[in-house]
Amino acid sequence: MGQQLSVLATGSARRDARRAPGKRYPTPFHFFLAARRDPLAMLRWGLAEFGDIARIESWPLMVHLLYHPEHIKHVLQDNNRNYWKGNLIGRVKPLIGEGLFTSEGDFWRRQRRLAQPAFHRQRIESFASIMCRAGERMLDGWEETAATTRPFDLMEEMSRVTLSIVGMALFGIDLIGAAAGVGHAMLTALQFMSEEAFSLFPSVLLIPAPRNLRFLRARRQLDRVVLGIIEGRRRDAAGANDLLSMMMEARDADSGEGMSNRQLRDEVMTFILAGHETTAVTLAWACLLLDQHPDAARRLRAEITSVLAGRQPTLADLPHLQLTRRVVDETLRLYPPVPVISREAFAADEIGGYVIPAKTGVMLTPYVTHRHPALWEDPERFDPDRFTPERSAVRPRFAYFPFGGGPRLCIGNEFALMEAQILLAMIVQRYYVESVPEHAVTHEIRVTLRPRQPMQMRLRPV
Ligand code: HEM
Repeated sequence: MGQQLSVLATGSARRDARRAPGKRYPTPFHFFLAARRDPLAMLRWGLAEFGDIARIESWPLMVHLLYHPEHIKHVLQDNNRNYWKGNLIGRVKPLIGEGLFTSEGDFWRRQRRLAQPAFHRQRIESFASIMCRAGERMLDGWEETAATTRPFDLMEEMSRVTLSIVGMALFGIDLIGAAAGVGHAMLTALQFMSEEAFSLFPSVLLIPAPRNLRFLRARRQLDRVVLGIIEGRRRDAAGANDLLSMMMEARDADSGEGMSNRQLRDEVMTFILAGHETTAVTLAWACLLLDQHPDAARRLRAEITSVLAGRQPTLADLPHLQLTRRVVDETLRLYPPVPVISREAFAADEIGGYVIPAKTGVMLTPYVTHRHPALWEDPERFDPDRFTPERSAVRPRFAYFPFGGGPRLCIGNEFALMEAQILLAMIVQRYYVESVPEHAVTHEIRVTLRPRQPMQMRLRPV
């Protein structure tokens, strides 16, 4: 990837810039052990102990945790050319390869330019009906469960519906039939990737250890689905006008060549993975938060009843479902599906008066900045009204960044927000989703911020 990383390194640090306060672990092993044992605690620790910037070090590793909106803006936006995703991103490549999420430099820019039109506003608008149809089908399927007191796994349901939507909207394929198996394979692969991200050395997949074999089996299953999608489209592309066809029709300006099956596979896998798990966890957390905050849930239900009057939402309704949108925003504040965004500096840089040495890491943590007491009043409290336009207007841009920012801003952010708004409105319109006392749910990082336990909930028709 060396040639892709020859971007301008624009960092610089004054000679007298200081070292940020922080902590040194005796060995990288201790560092990774702590990160693996309780990653969220480690991320929160820096702010509590040292304030807006904290250094974690264990030779030869060094990472700065940055919590201040201006520092986040500096890395993601103002001086983004001095930063790349770093070596750690290599740990997810065994699953998603060189797709838009993991690639860098000119290659990334080309792929982003190619994919961007699939997310233009007019296109996203046409996705609304796909989202409504998938939501309706899921909610109809819930009727039987709602007639009993049997708990069901909410997270699994949300994964199925978002997987089906991303498949239909971007690739014209209904993944729902395959989704139960795909969901399981995805979970196995995600768990493996998450352990990889927090381990000292990457696994050698050639060693037939049970854990490696489980991952490889899951990846084979996912590959079968993805290659099936690509081959199906190569056989019959008539009338298709979606992300997949855009990527398949693209030709290299110099060589005239199209993307190989391998490249297409990596992009499809990237979009399936990035485009469903994140929205699924958002919806699952939103339902849980509403169950825990009956006043907010009552107000939300009143809004939905008054705007929709019992019918399905349409695109035109979305601007009127303002509280629904604020509930989604507040859910993304408390439970950002991507809790950490990491980068590595090409050249030395200076942030907040402290030196960031060349080739060291920085971690930006939506999870912690979204709960920063200097930025948010009573930060642990669920309060959707934080996101009224007036209150949002006075907040620094990077106090809230569930979708990242700068050139690598999530390409699917509007897609995701619309999907979450539509599905949440449809769920609340028809059901009370209630937690079951004996199935308490806590959260953990597994690449995304997921429920640690199966999210067992009960349904009651409205
Ligand atoms: C609530 C839902 C979502 C959240 C919270 C989320 C969050 C993020 C974040 C934080 C990044 C930037 C990571 C970085 O800078 O290192 C990102 C990138 C990305 N997201 Fe999302 N995402 C969501 C939904 C989606 C959806 C629905 C899609 C596709 C349909 C998608 C596709 C992508 C892709 C392809 C990238 C890489 C973009 C690039 O680097 O050019 N995401 N997402």
